[in-house]
Amino acid sequence: MAVGIYFATTTGKTEDIAERLHGLLSGVNSPKDLADISDVSEFNDLDGIICGIPTWNTGADSERSGTAWDSMLEDIGGLSLGGKKVAIFGLGDSSTYTENFCDAMEELHSYFKKAGATMVGYVGKGSYTFEESKSVVGDSFCGLPLDEDSESDLTDERLENWSKQLKGELGF
Ligand SMILES: Cc1cc2nc3c(=O)[nH]c(=O)nc-3n(C[C@H](O)[C@H](O)[C@H](O)COP(=O)(O)O)c2cc1C
Repeated sequence: MAVGIYFATTTGKTEDIAERLHGLLSGVNSPKDLADISDVSEFNDLDGIICGIPTWNTGADSERSGTAWDSMLEDIGGLSLGGKKVAIFGLGDSSTYTENFCDAMEELHSYFKKAGATMVGYVGKGSYTFEESKSVVGDSFCGLPLDEDSESDLTDERLENWSKQLKGELGF
């Protein structure tokens, strides 16, 4: 079972979380910065993909992240990822950007779905304080939102719970 962690970052917080998650998930490949990857076709070689994406383009419908993910979205949507499992974590600020909390997760989620991947790692919204988020799908977030700006004290627990959830859902 090959599982990779991919992230993009502007100020380093998503990279830090990717490293911390890697420490909790033995057997998963070391995190890779999307900015160092020219071609997303390497996703074809994996059974599971964990993606970290921050939100910078507040209120935008498209290219919400403002990172290297934005220019990869169409390529991801064009892959054939049937049978592969994908989980997304997002970095945002639920206090300052409470009406757009972690909006970028859902955009990435939609392109992986388009590629036929099975999306896992959904998280209930109960323990978060925010007004609106495009990343709420049904009753849940379509991934794990993390807030290193306003709620960093909750990150360890959120990461531990999610890593346990992923071990079950990704099956390793
Ligand atoms: C100009 C600016 C715009 C931002 N827009 C949003 C936003 O719309 N939604 C959100 O949840 N967080 C927003 N954030 C917070 C960042 O997503 C957050 O600081 C994140 O941890 C940055 O991750 P990075 O260090 O990996 O780039 C914004 C921050 C700045 C400075």
